[in-house]
Amino acid sequence: MEIHIVDSAETGGIVVADLFEEVLRGAGEQGAVLGLATGSSPLPAYAELIRRHREEGLSFASARAFLLDEYVGLPDEHEQSYHRFIRENFIDHIDLPESAVQSPRGTAEDPVAEARAYDERIREAGGVDLQILGIGSNGHIAFNEPGSSLGSRTRVVGLTRSTIADNSRYFDSPEEVPQRALSQGLGTILEARRIVLTATGENKAAAVAQLVEGGISARWPATVLQMHQDVTVVVDEAAASGLELSEDYRHARTLRIIERGNAR
Ligand code: PGA
Repeated sequence: MEIHIVDSAETGGIVVADLFEEVLRGAGEQGAVLGLATGSSPLPAYAELIRRHREEGLSFASARAFLLDEYVGLPDEHEQSYHRFIRENFIDHIDLPESAVQSPRGTAEDPVAEARAYDERIREAGGVDLQILGIGSNGHIAFNEPGSSLGSRTRVVGLTRSTIADNSRYFDSPEEVPQRALSQGLGTILEARRIVLTATGENKAAAVAQLVEGGISARWPATVLQMHQDVTVVVDEAAASGLELSEDYRHARTLRIIERGNAR
């Protein structure tokens, strides 16, 4: 894992946007396949990518994208659907065609079949080149809550009480938060060629400490990322505050910057 401890969410957004830009520019003719996430954590990165599109001509025209998850029962147009969130906060402001953005269909008549078909659609697209992730305070990634199988595939999942409480800020009341979602599984996420996870704030500190330094366990689903060979973790000082070895990560990062400088 490469750990970046940054001074602000905005700086974190720049680090994440750099990775997206590298993947977009490095993609062959068939275009990059981006794995997108909702929630507040990716927003600074999306804002920076929108700026680069507007001011520097960064193009997403030949890319395709897959969302991590969607609430069961919410149509794409619903105010709180993840499909709508990603449109309003990202897609509507760049040149990625909406038809190139897929999410699990929350209103599918047979959500179990939809989950299987979603994994298949990702496979047919050639897999995800770069997946962005947030992390829940309980260590979830996407809707893979504690106890999720580390090899899980896209499936219908129940939300935990803590996730319903976290997400109720977007709804009028906790009772309105859907109780189930379609979510990429941990095994599905691990198939992305590169992964970047970003988090800010003290309430993520325990989950980030487990992600980077804990044992791999279904209790903290994000720890499965320790099995992946290309994960970048971008955290602010508050989210990094539970890390025992933060000075070592800063040092390793300085060495990498010097090495890259020497290689130029
Ligand atoms: P957040 O959510 O980015 O809104 O903090 C992250 C998550 O719960 O996965």
